[in-house]
Amino acid sequence: MNNDVEDKKSYIIRCENLVKIYKTSEIEVVALQGLDLNVEQGELMAIIGNSGSGKSTLLNMIGGLDKPSAGALIVDGKDLFKMSEKEMNQYKRNTVGFVWQNSARNLIPYLTARENIKLVKRIGRAGSESDNSEQLLELVGLGHRKNNKLGELSGGEQQRVAIAIALANEPKLLLADEPTGAVDTKTSEQILDFFRKINRELGITVVIVTHDRQIARKVDRVVAIRDGKTSSEFVRKRSYVDVLQEVGNLMDSTEEEETHEELAVLDKAGRVQIPREYLDSIEIKNSNKVKIELEGSRIVLYKPER
Ligand SMILES: Nc1ncnc2c1ncn2[C@@H]1O[C@H](COP(=O)(O)OP(=O)(O)O)[C@@H](O)[C@H]1O
Ligand SMILES: [Mg+2]
Repeated sequence: MNNDVEDKKSYIIRCENLVKIYKTSEIEVVALQGLDLNVEQGELMAIIGNSGSGKSTLLNMIGGLDKPSAGALIVDGKDLFKMSEKEMNQYKRNTVGFVWQNSARNLIPYLTARENIKLVKRIGRAGSESDNSEQLLELVGLGHRKNNKLGELSGGEQQRVAIAIALANEPKLLLADEPTGAVDTKTSEQILDFFRKINRELGITVVIVTHDRQIARKVDRVVAIRDGKTSSEFVRKRSYVDVLQEVGNLMDSTEEEETHEELAVLDKAGRVQIPREYLDSIEIKNSNKVKIELEGSRIVLYKPER
């Protein structure tokens, strides 16, 4: 895409050449190796990748829970590198909401759903805000369970209470790390549909991290990360299927799958990651060189002659 057009879009998240190195006494782990990612305001998107590919590391940095080793990270117009501790606390409290696989573990089982929400709000903001716990529970479809003790709710319901809490301070950005990792398929569908609902109705930008490739059916864009770098991207193409969905018709999943187009990510220096299978199929195995030629409007890669 043309860079001028790119720059004019309003991105809520901009990661540029993000590097994260974990140092322990024995080893250094490069969890992110120059990752670029832009997320538009109001997007519903997912980041997928195998275990260990750097997904949680990335999300934690966007959420201000950890600091990058190098690179630029701008969220909601604020440079996370340049924030004071006070600004960072405000950012974590007001701009982002976080949901984890086991978020409900941090809640208190002998308090009711409402009391749990009120408690977290009180810790977060010194009681300055009005009590919106009831509306929040309505929003996540648990209005009828508001006075049940948390321990009396199912795993999926507890996860919805955790989501209500993440939304309590009206964040602009909801970050979810494997939010459906601990629930069954049906509950997982409900949670993902709920993310879509709050994205559409409240305009909250939602970023979901998961190893589950099926997520593509539930979001507008999927970015794949491999070895700490973005490798490819699937964009939902607007088609009649989408239009049908908007007017409330159900559709079958195979049709939906076809509305995604896979794109490789091109970084600022013009580098692109080529899938191993492609290289193998032109027999680039033990060499680190490839021949590149421009053929009309295509760029073609060849195995070097010798
Ligand atoms: N606190 C840490 N200390 C050392 N290494 C870590 C730490 N957190 C993550 N890593 C390493 O960084 C890499 C990326 O991890 P992570 O972001 O958790 O991946 P994912 O969420 O995709 O499974 C892995 O190799 C992991 O072992
Ligand atoms: Mg993880």
